[in-house]
Amino acid sequence: MKLDEEINKRKTFAIISHPDAGKTTLTEKFLLFGGAIQTAGAVKSNKIKKTAASDFMEIERQRGISVATSVMSFEYRNYLINLLDTPGHKDFAEDTYRTLTAVDSVILVVDSVNGVEEQTKRLTEVCRMRDTPIIVFVNKMDLEGQDAFDLLDELETALDIKVRPLSWPINKGKRFKGVYDLHQKGLNLFEGSKTKLTKEILSINDLSDPQLDKLLGEDAEQLREDVELIEGVYEPLNKEDYLSGKIAPVFFGSAVNNFGVKEMLDTFIELAPTPLPRPSNKGDVDPFSEKFSGFIFKIHANLDPNHRDRIAFLRVCSGTFERNKFFHHTRLGKSFRFNNPYSFLAREKNVVEVAYPGDVIGLYDTGNFKIGDTLTEGLDFTFQGIPSFSPEIFREVINRDPLKSKQLDKGVRQLTDEGVAQLFIQQPGSRKIIGTVGELQFEVIKYRLKEEYNASCDLVHKNFYKACWITTTDQEQLKEFIRIKASEIAFDKDDNPVFLAPSAWMLQMAQENYPNLTFHFTSEFKTASQVEP
Ligand code: G4P
Repeated sequence: MKLDEEINKRKTFAIISHPDAGKTTLTEKFLLFGGAIQTAGAVKSNKIKKTAASDFMEIERQRGISVATSVMSFEYRNYLINLLDTPGHKDFAEDTYRTLTAVDSVILVVDSVNGVEEQTKRLTEVCRMRDTPIIVFVNKMDLEGQDAFDLLDELETALDIKVRPLSWPINKGKRFKGVYDLHQKGLNLFEGSKTKLTKEILSINDLSDPQLDKLLGEDAEQLREDVELIEGVYEPLNKEDYLSGKIAPVFFGSAVNNFGVKEMLDTFIELAPTPLPRPSNKGDVDPFSEKFSGFIFKIHANLDPNHRDRIAFLRVCSGTFERNKFFHHTRLGKSFRFNNPYSFLAREKNVVEVAYPGDVIGLYDTGNFKIGDTLTEGLDFTFQGIPSFSPEIFREVINRDPLKSKQLDKGVRQLTDEGVAQLFIQQPGSRKIIGTVGELQFEVIKYRLKEEYNASCDLVHKNFYKACWITTTDQEQLKEFIRIKASEIAFDKDDNPVFLAPSAWMLQMAQENYPNLTFHFTSEFKTASQVEP
């Protein structure tokens, strides 16, 4: 098959939601439709009920054994679908944000009872930053949730996006009768079944059809009124507006009952984009260009202590990736080849010979990769848009065992390469400060340093407000700032200066007093400066 045919049959996306809205359940139903699993209950939930590192590690241990849960590829109606998993816990939001850089669209699951929740908002914001197309699935219609029109209003105001229902619920909770497909004009009557896949859809082209009254009783009239209102208020869905992230089609259903899921999956296949161009420091990279390129968006440690290697997840962005072929690592300026790259079709790890744009492959790594690294077929550019966000919680790493300082150094370096946290070095004494967006990561770091590197440390609280990267064309002013603020200056892993601002006010003062310095809240700018110093 030619490259363009391969690209045009791929759809790479993620399901995102606030924990408990039904992401895992929906993922499982998709895999059932795609034939990737045979029974319900096969997908392990990755949610963390209690915020304890031990729970997290247990889940990671399970996932480590079957690392395939990070990417699930399956075939559906002649398409190859790559579904990327995202952690639900808010402390791991950064991991989710990075995964979102590797997809072309998302499905957002909202719980009909709880509506838009904190994580729903944050995740949608990240999608909106990149204009990622969004389809919304309002889940749990079998429960006494909020009014469907109210939910649509809430989605529009809280998420700052226009919505367009493509299916409409008939009543809810115990009186939930099903959904009317506004697009295909079909009536799907609700029956609770966790395993049944196909259901009969009744075609009702004209809502005044008396058959509707027989089937729905008094809800028939309500449906007629609702549909009239929808058609009057909401414009027909414009595919271009969906693709540019301006409008989100909305479906209603019940994932656990496998209800309303197929309608959405079929529409997803029709609407969702095939692999899109990706931004680099030398312009957008077209997926159809012949030369291979891709970037690392996730690094997964092998939690089995007998196997220290890690798995770097690479999204193919252009051309064809081939096993055993030399590719150029643009940050290190070295060539690498991979004799055991693998893909995740049907939830099995399979050694892959070739991979195409939109695919995600796992590469065994002995420490050569960092998140955001670019691999190309000889070209020199770096993909952008894989930022580190300014961390907000800081701890200094204090070694507890001087005989193990090498292990500690290695552990901290490797864990921060994986993106678990960010590392900043402070002088004098090369003190290590680690910054995260959530408390849970510190527990994870401590646990993993002990388990995997046999290193113990104390993590001492540091009272900083934010870490801001500094750039300037006025080197004198920067030198002056670094001298005056010595105790609040650190350097990141690429030796970029970072201001550890003690408070919002101090940051504001710094901005006023040093007008020639620019303070950045994401590390985005670094990618460009690495390649074009
Ligand atoms: P998450 O990955 O977004 O965190 O959510 P998950 O799919 O694990 O679903 C959270 C809970 O909501 C699960 O119940 C799941 O069964 C339930 N759920 C999912 N879809 C629906 C739905 O359409 N209707 C109803 N009523 N419930 C739904 P749990 O009790 O936490 O776990 P489990 O023991 O059922 O697995």
